[in-house]
Amino acid sequence: MVKVREMDVEFCHHYARTLEAASGPAWRYDEAKPCGVNYNSILLAGLYDAHHRTFRDYRRETAEIVDMLDLKPSATVIDMGCGTGAFTIHAAAHYRTVHAVDVSRAMLRRTRRKARKAGLDNVQFHHGGFLTYEHESAPVDAIVTVAALHHLPDFWKLVGLYRLASMLKPGGRLYLFDVVFSFDIAHYEARIKHFVRAAGTEMGPSGQAESETHCRDEYSTCDWIMAGLLERAGFEITTTGRQNEFFTSYLCTKRSA
Ligand SMILES: C[S@@+](CC[C@H](N)C(=O)[O-])C[C@H]1O[C@@H](n2cnc3c(N)ncnc32)[C@H](O)[C@@H]1O
Repeated sequence: MVKVREMDVEFCHHYARTLEAASGPAWRYDEAKPCGVNYNSILLAGLYDAHHRTFRDYRRETAEIVDMLDLKPSATVIDMGCGTGAFTIHAAAHYRTVHAVDVSRAMLRRTRRKARKAGLDNVQFHHGGFLTYEHESAPVDAIVTVAALHHLPDFWKLVGLYRLASMLKPGGRLYLFDVVFSFDIAHYEARIKHFVRAAGTEMGPSGQAESETHCRDEYSTCDWIMAGLLERAGFEITTTGRQNEFFTSYLCTKRSA
């Protein structure tokens, strides 16, 4: 018969505690597991900028967000779901500190490498996400999140937004851009086909495949749900920028308690 020693039991307890601390409660949505496009892939992270630069201008996007946020140079900002640093890298010139946060180590590594190359010393890197990032510094002036929230199902979006509100100073601002559907549901098939076709035209075959994966496996939501989530999480929507029936940005202010 195998003898169980007290130190073995102690070891098992310690192991279980370590596991729990590493992954959080078993009921929490596992935001580290990729849904849809796999941003944990080193290959995809390496190709991301070359692909996105064919249809995006990171510098111009950042300038527009910086204008909208209208913050002082002493401001601190979180870029949640920073990816390869599309916002972080250019925003660092405007603010005292940018906290770049992402669940993908591969994407975060690209941001770190670009920051090092650009000689930036005011970017802090954090591996985590909407549901797990613990902001240990002082509350920030603004949070920016671009094309990341759709990785969470709606209930967990609400939890994520509520957690973001807790990281902001009173009156702090949130800029959110994402795939948000605002078309008439009676025409969903035609509209989704149009969305996929347009992505193919703008971004080529990989863009088409990405948009199909997006609709099938990721969690883009409806405009009226997104507005409700933001309000219930503690934000007042100041400006809604509907780009078209698929993409919307929201500039919000944290409501005072
Ligand atoms: C389409 S990319 C957008 C990246 C960047 N914001 C940009 O504008 O290029 C989506 C990013 O969200 C990240 N992401 C996915 N789920 C997340 C979560 N729960 N919390 C934080 N980031 C997440 C992915 O790892 C990926 O880097």
